[in-house]
Amino acid sequence: MTLLPARRAQERIVRWQANIFKAKALLSLFAGSSLKAGVKPMKKTKILLLIFLGIIALPVLLIATPNSLGERIGERIKEEARAQGYLEYTPLQAKKLAETRCTQCHEVDRIAKYCSRCGPPFIVVITHMKRLMKQFMEREPGKKITGLTKPQELAVVQAWNAMVGNWEADFRREDMEAMIGKENTHLLALLDTPIGQREIERGLKEAGIRLKGAYVEEMKH
Ligand code: HEC
Repeated sequence: MTLLPARRAQERIVRWQANIFKAKALLSLFAGSSLKAGVKPMKKTKILLLIFLGIIALPVLLIATPNSLGERIGERIKEEARAQGYLEYTPLQAKKLAETRCTQCHEVDRIAKYCSRCGPPFIVVITHMKRLMKQFMEREPGKKITGLTKPQELAVVQAWNAMVGNWEADFRREDMEAMIGKENTHLLALLDTPIGQREIERGLKEAGIRLKGAYVEEMKH
């Protein structure tokens, strides 16, 4: 149904109302007489009434929806602001982001089973996964893989550190720096940030939120 300019719609409603009135008058005229005569205006009235109700329902729907629609748009804008670093991820939002973005290729179990003896800490793993994501996107452009922005990488690393383990202290700094790479200044900056000052990591740790099935590390940091 196309939206008519308000005034024209108004005029139509008035015309329809007049029609309905006429139809009703006709109907009452025929009501007492034969059934056959009553059928036609009855049908017309019903159709007109339906259209009329539709015309009323449309603006009501439009007025009623902006709330949920507005909320959804607002949430999209906020998510974009978080992705671009204008808004902070809360610990729980970071957890959700990590759990959705990091399970696009493998089960979360792969992360749960990861440990200090398995390989470097998540701050390094993220760079490896980022490379895999890029390769994957180039190789199979048809399959949708959603990448991570820099603020999202910082949030996701902190989330896994808290929920699985953080063994940055067990690795030589130069080795981690070399693996992270000079271009990843945001990750190098995170490496320099004490855990007490990493809002997401601290928040999840303090809330005791762990990944189910995660290898239990001694939380010494
Ligand atoms: C593009 C697909 C893809 C995405 C997305 C992805 N991974 Fe992976 N991941 C892989 C592949 C492939 C492997 C196994 C091959 C390898 O280790 O190079 C793997 C292995 C791993 C391992 C095990 C490494 C080891 O040495 O045992 C961990 C831990 C891991 N991923 C964590 C993550 C995290 C954290 C994220 C989210 C930032 C993530 N993955 C997102 C493809 C992906």
